[in-house]
Amino acid sequence: MKSLKDLPGIGPKTSEKLEDAGYSDLMCLATANASDVAVIADIGEGVAAKIINSARDALDMGFETGLKALEKRKLIGKITFGSETLNELMNGGLETQAITECYGAFGSSKTQIAHQLAVNVQMPVKDGGLKGRVLYIDTENTFRPERIEQMAIAKGLDPKKILENIFIARAYNSDHQMILVEKAQSIMKEKDIRLVIVDSLTAQFRTDYVGRGTLSARQQKLNRHMHDLQKLSDNYNAAIFVTNQVMSRPNVLFGDPTEAIGGHIVGHTSTFRLYLRKSKQNLRVAKLVDSPYLPDGEAIYTITEEGIGDAVGAARKPRVFKEKKEEGDISD
Ligand code: GTP
Ligand code: MG
Repeated sequence: MKSLKDLPGIGPKTSEKLEDAGYSDLMCLATANASDVAVIADIGEGVAAKIINSARDALDMGFETGLKALEKRKLIGKITFGSETLNELMNGGLETQAITECYGAFGSSKTQIAHQLAVNVQMPVKDGGLKGRVLYIDTENTFRPERIEQMAIAKGLDPKKILENIFIARAYNSDHQMILVEKAQSIMKEKDIRLVIVDSLTAQFRTDYVGRGTLSARQQKLNRHMHDLQKLSDNYNAAIFVTNQVMSRPNVLFGDPTEAIGGHIVGHTSTFRLYLRKSKQNLRVAKLVDSPYLPDGEAIYTITEEGIGDAVGAARKPRVFKEKKEEGDISD
């Protein structure tokens, strides 16, 4: 059984409506919400639930053994950041089957890293890529094809080919951004997408939900958005890279008062969190925060015309904090 039409209890009209709405394969349908499917296909929720269940049965979804989970984890791919120190901090690179959140002040290089990853994922595995394509959701209009060209040329790659493998979508508001991710399911497999970038994850949500009264609505939407992203990473063995701004907490007197936007929802759903900050000249510092199995630590890297790289003469090893909560600063 391969397509929606083959499912028992689904007519040609319903399958057509669902396919038009981006539910192009069984996996999209199997992981959908009954209420969404009901609205899209104009059917009752009960019928929708039945259709979803038969998609799940067809895919043999349900409990899996620990062994199967281990086999799935063996398929995790890693994309090089372009800096050996940063790679080492992240246990080899940006992982698939995970969401990596990068937060930091303006100019801390979130967008630059996003551009670099969009180039690097296309390289062969032996060079630190996954030979895959990229979906780039640009919410701040900061995607620059010229920058991709520069980075590709620096790696000896054909810039035209590299740009052809990056699918860019501008998100004009938070709802639009969410729909783009929902629709992404339909092209993940077809286009062999291995990296999904959302730059920035939170900016549109901040604009659309202003004031304390809207906070819970915003968090609910963000939660759903994060889970949709997680689904992409799980179902298609893709790496998800999202960027996030910071705000200053006025009540913090000691230590670093900056905090990522989005609160617990974004923090807990991200598998890896990197806090970036500027240092001298073109040096930047990435701090790994709250990783599930890696020690917290910091890495220094550079941004030059060629892209992300290692600082000449600087330590190639990231500084690892023995105590989980130790604060450190190697930037100044
Ligand atoms: P916001 O989106 O504004 O929050 O910031 P961001 O974290 O996305 O910063 P971004 O990645 O846009 O970083 C911009 C910085 O990268 C600039 O201030 C430059 O310092 C640096 N940069 C970008 N391009 C080049 C380049 O070609 N050469 C060098 N040396 N630095 C560059
Ligand atoms: Mg940016």
